[in-house]
Amino acid sequence: MSATPSKPSMAEKIGLIDDFCGRARILPVITINREEEILPLADALAAGGLTTLEVTLRSALGLTAIRLLREARPALCIGAGTVLDPAMLAEAEAAGAQFLVSPGGTAELLQAGVESALPLLPGISSASEIMLGYALGYRRFKLFPAEVCGGAAALKALGGPFPGVRFCPTGGVNPDNLRRYMQVPNVMCVGGSWMLEAGWIAAGDWARVTRVSAEALTLLD
Ligand code: 3PG
Repeated sequence: MSATPSKPSMAEKIGLIDDFCGRARILPVITINREEEILPLADALAAGGLTTLEVTLRSALGLTAIRLLREARPALCIGAGTVLDPAMLAEAEAAGAQFLVSPGGTAELLQAGVESALPLLPGISSASEIMLGYALGYRRFKLFPAEVCGGAAALKALGGPFPGVRFCPTGGVNPDNLRRYMQVPNVMCVGGSWMLEAGWIAAGDWARVTRVSAEALTLLD
Protein backbone atom coordinates (compact mmCIF):
# COMPACT_ATOMS: atom_id res chain seq x y z
CA MET A 1 0.00 0.00 0.00
CA SER A 2 1.51 3.36 -0.99
CA ALA A 3 1.47 6.13 1.61
CA THR A 4 -0.59 9.24 0.79
CA PRO A 5 1.83 12.18 0.45
CA SER A 6 1.37 14.46 3.44
CA LYS A 7 0.25 18.04 2.90
CA PRO A 8 3.01 20.62 3.40
CA SER A 9 2.81 22.60 6.64
CA MET A 10 2.48 26.40 6.68
CA ALA A 11 6.19 26.57 7.57
CA GLU A 12 7.04 24.46 4.53
CA LYS A 13 4.85 26.61 2.31
CA ILE A 14 6.58 29.75 3.63
CA GLY A 15 9.86 28.09 2.63
CA LEU A 16 8.49 27.51 -0.88
CA ILE A 17 7.43 31.17 -1.17
CA ASP A 18 10.85 32.34 -0.01
CA ASP A 19 12.46 30.09 -2.54
CA PHE A 20 10.50 31.19 -5.60
CA CYS A 21 10.24 34.88 -4.64
CA GLY A 22 13.93 35.05 -3.71
CA ARG A 23 14.95 33.61 -7.05
CA ALA A 24 12.42 35.63 -9.06
CA ARG A 25 12.94 39.10 -7.50
CA ILE A 26 10.34 40.39 -9.99
CA LEU A 27 6.99 38.67 -10.42
CA PRO A 28 5.26 39.72 -13.66
CA VAL A 29 1.49 39.93 -13.30
CA ILE A 30 0.02 38.61 -16.54
CA THR A 31 -3.53 38.84 -17.87
CA ILE A 32 -4.07 36.84 -21.04
CA ASN A 33 -6.62 38.21 -23.50
CA ARG A 34 -5.83 36.11 -26.60
CA GLU A 35 -4.90 32.46 -26.56
CA GLU A 36 -2.18 32.88 -29.18
CA GLU A 37 -0.39 35.34 -26.89
CA ILE A 38 0.23 32.82 -24.11
CA LEU A 39 3.46 31.19 -25.26
CA PRO A 40 5.14 34.20 -26.96
CA LEU A 41 4.41 36.37 -23.95
CA ALA A 42 5.84 33.86 -21.48
CA ASP A 43 8.83 33.26 -23.76
CA ALA A 44 9.47 37.01 -24.03
CA LEU A 45 9.48 37.37 -20.24
CA ALA A 46 11.70 34.32 -19.82
CA ALA A 47 14.16 35.64 -22.41
CA GLY A 48 14.41 38.77 -20.26
CA GLY A 49 15.14 36.67 -17.17
CA LEU A 50 11.65 36.59 -15.64
CA THR A 51 10.78 32.92 -15.24
CA THR A 52 8.33 33.00 -12.32
CA LEU A 53 5.00 34.25 -13.61
CA GLU A 54 1.70 35.15 -11.97
CA VAL A 55 -1.12 34.43 -14.41
CA THR A 56 -4.28 36.16 -13.25
CA LEU A 57 -7.68 34.53 -13.27
CA ARG A 58 -9.31 37.86 -14.15
CA SER A 59 -9.62 36.86 -17.78
CA ALA A 60 -11.44 33.77 -19.06
CA LEU A 61 -8.13 32.47 -20.43
CA GLY A 62 -6.29 32.44 -17.11
CA LEU A 63 -6.78 28.74 -16.40
CA THR A 64 -6.09 27.81 -20.03
CA ALA A 65 -2.81 29.73 -19.83
CA ILE A 66 -1.78 28.01 -16.60
CA ARG A 67 -2.51 24.55 -18.06
CA LEU A 68 -0.68 25.30 -21.31
CA LEU A 69 2.38 26.82 -19.66
CA ARG A 70 2.73 23.96 -17.19
CA GLU A 71 2.65 21.50 -20.05
CA ALA A 72 4.64 23.37 -22.70
CA ARG A 73 7.08 25.34 -20.54
CA PRO A 74 7.91 23.10 -17.55
CA ALA A 75 11.04 25.09 -16.72
CA LEU A 76 8.93 28.13 -15.75
CA CYS A 77 7.31 28.55 -12.31
CA ILE A 78 3.64 29.36 -12.84
CA GLY A 79 1.33 30.82 -10.21
CA ALA A 80 -2.31 31.81 -10.33
CA GLY A 81 -3.24 35.38 -9.44
CA THR A 82 -6.54 37.11 -8.64
CA VAL A 83 -7.68 34.03 -6.70
CA LEU A 84 -10.77 35.44 -5.00
CA ASP A 85 -12.46 32.47 -3.32
CA PRO A 86 -12.03 28.76 -2.51
CA ALA A 87 -13.62 27.68 -5.80
CA MET A 88 -11.07 29.66 -7.82
CA LEU A 89 -8.30 28.28 -5.61
CA ALA A 90 -9.45 24.72 -6.40
CA GLU A 91 -9.60 25.50 -10.14
CA ALA A 92 -6.09 26.97 -10.07
CA GLU A 93 -4.78 23.88 -8.26
CA ALA A 94 -6.46 21.58 -10.78
CA ALA A 95 -4.95 23.57 -13.67
CA GLY A 96 -1.48 22.90 -12.27
CA ALA A 97 -0.60 26.24 -10.65
CA GLN A 98 2.47 26.06 -8.42
CA PHE A 99 1.50 28.95 -6.17
CA LEU A 100 -1.50 31.20 -5.53
CA VAL A 101 -1.84 34.96 -5.13
CA SER A 102 -4.89 36.97 -4.06
CA PRO A 103 -5.46 40.73 -3.99
CA GLY A 104 -6.99 40.49 -0.50
CA GLY A 105 -8.32 37.89 1.90
CA THR A 106 -11.57 36.52 3.25
CA ALA A 107 -11.86 34.07 6.14
CA GLU A 108 -12.92 31.37 3.65
CA LEU A 109 -10.07 31.99 1.24
CA LEU A 110 -7.43 32.15 3.99
CA GLN A 111 -8.70 28.87 5.44
CA ALA A 112 -8.68 27.24 1.99
CA GLY A 113 -5.09 28.42 1.63
CA VAL A 114 -4.15 26.76 4.92
CA GLU A 115 -5.68 23.50 3.69
CA SER A 116 -4.18 23.70 0.19
CA ALA A 117 -1.00 21.88 -0.76
CA LEU A 118 0.05 25.07 -2.59
CA PRO A 119 1.45 28.20 -0.98
CA LEU A 120 -0.95 31.17 -0.99
CA LEU A 121 0.35 34.73 -0.90
CA PRO A 122 -2.67 36.69 0.34
CA GLY A 123 -3.07 40.37 -0.39
CA ILE A 124 -3.20 42.81 2.51
CA SER A 125 -3.37 46.58 2.82
CA SER A 126 -3.40 47.05 6.60
CA ALA A 127 -1.92 45.79 9.89
CA SER A 128 -5.28 44.25 10.82
CA GLU A 129 -5.35 42.14 7.67
CA ILE A 130 -1.81 40.93 8.37
CA MET A 131 -2.97 39.92 11.85
CA LEU A 132 -5.92 37.91 10.48
CA GLY A 133 -3.55 35.96 8.23
CA TYR A 134 -0.87 35.76 10.92
CA ALA A 135 -3.29 34.01 13.28
CA LEU A 136 -3.67 31.25 10.68
CA GLY A 137 0.09 30.86 10.18
CA TYR A 138 0.65 33.17 7.21
CA ARG A 139 3.95 35.09 7.25
CA ARG A 140 4.25 36.17 3.61
CA PHE A 141 1.84 38.64 2.01
CA LYS A 142 1.30 40.71 -1.10
CA LEU A 143 0.96 44.43 -0.26
CA PHE A 144 -1.73 45.64 -2.65
CA PRO A 145 -2.13 48.21 -4.12
CA ALA A 146 1.37 49.01 -2.91
CA GLU A 147 1.83 52.60 -4.11
CA VAL A 148 -1.62 53.64 -2.91
CA CYS A 149 -1.10 51.92 0.47
CA GLY A 150 1.97 53.95 1.35
CA GLY A 151 4.65 52.24 -0.72
CA ALA A 152 8.11 51.61 0.68
CA ALA A 153 7.46 53.83 3.73
CA ALA A 154 4.46 51.67 4.72
CA LEU A 155 6.55 48.51 4.39
CA LYS A 156 9.28 49.98 6.61
CA ALA A 157 6.66 50.89 9.22
CA LEU A 158 5.10 47.38 9.10
CA GLY A 159 8.55 45.92 9.83
CA GLY A 160 8.24 47.22 13.42
CA PRO A 161 5.28 45.18 14.69
CA PHE A 162 5.80 42.27 12.26
CA PRO A 163 9.51 41.46 12.25
CA GLY A 164 9.08 37.93 10.84
CA VAL A 165 6.77 38.96 8.03
CA ARG A 166 7.88 39.60 4.44
CA PHE A 167 6.07 41.15 1.52
CA CYS A 168 5.70 41.26 -2.25
CA PRO A 169 4.52 44.81 -3.00
CA THR A 170 2.39 44.99 -6.16
CA GLY A 171 0.30 47.72 -7.72
CA GLY A 172 2.03 50.78 -9.11
CA VAL A 173 5.52 49.26 -9.00
CA ASN A 174 7.64 50.41 -11.95
CA PRO A 175 11.28 50.92 -12.98
CA ASP A 176 11.40 54.26 -11.12
CA ASN A 177 10.45 52.88 -7.69
CA LEU A 178 11.58 49.25 -7.99
CA ARG A 179 14.91 49.70 -6.26
CA ARG A 180 13.35 51.68 -3.42
CA TYR A 181 11.03 48.76 -2.70
CA MET A 182 13.74 46.12 -2.92
CA GLN A 183 15.93 48.07 -0.50
CA VAL A 184 13.37 47.64 2.29
CA PRO A 185 14.55 44.60 4.32
CA ASN A 186 11.10 42.97 4.58
CA VAL A 187 10.53 43.00 0.81
CA MET A 188 11.22 39.60 -0.78
CA CYS A 189 10.25 40.51 -4.36
CA VAL A 190 8.06 42.95 -6.26
CA GLY A 191 5.16 42.27 -8.60
CA GLY A 192 3.77 44.24 -11.49
CA SER A 193 2.71 44.52 -15.08
CA TRP A 194 4.83 47.44 -16.31
CA MET A 195 6.82 45.14 -18.65
CA LEU A 196 3.58 44.07 -20.33
CA GLU A 197 2.08 47.26 -21.74
CA ALA A 198 -1.11 46.51 -23.65
CA GLY A 199 0.14 48.28 -26.80
CA TRP A 200 3.33 46.18 -26.99
CA ILE A 201 1.33 42.98 -26.60
CA ALA A 202 -1.26 44.02 -29.20
CA ALA A 203 1.59 44.82 -31.61
CA GLY A 204 3.40 41.56 -30.83
CA ASP A 205 6.44 43.58 -29.76
CA TRP A 206 7.90 40.72 -27.75
CA ALA A 207 11.43 42.12 -28.08
CA ARG A 208 10.32 45.14 -26.06
CA VAL A 209 8.82 42.93 -23.33
CA THR A 210 12.14 41.08 -23.15
CA ARG A 211 14.18 44.30 -23.09
CA VAL A 212 12.11 45.99 -20.37
CA SER A 213 12.16 42.80 -18.27
CA ALA A 214 15.93 42.48 -18.55
CA GLU A 215 16.43 46.19 -17.77
CA ALA A 216 14.34 45.85 -14.62
CA LEU A 217 16.51 43.01 -13.35
CA THR A 218 19.62 45.06 -14.12
CA LEU A 219 18.30 47.81 -11.84
CA LEU A 220 18.46 45.33 -8.96
CA ASP A 221 22.09 44.25 -9.49
C1 3PG B 1 -2.14 43.19 -9.66
O1 3PG B 1 -3.21 42.70 -9.83
O2 3PG B 1 -1.31 42.69 -8.90
C2 3PG B 1 -1.91 44.48 -10.31
O3 3PG B 1 -2.82 44.69 -11.34
C3 3PG B 1 -0.53 44.68 -10.83
O4 3PG B 1 -0.30 46.00 -10.59
P1 3PG B 1 0.23 46.98 -11.73
O5 3PG B 1 -0.59 46.69 -12.96
O6 3PG B 1 0.04 48.35 -11.17
O7 3PG B 1 1.68 46.64 -11.94
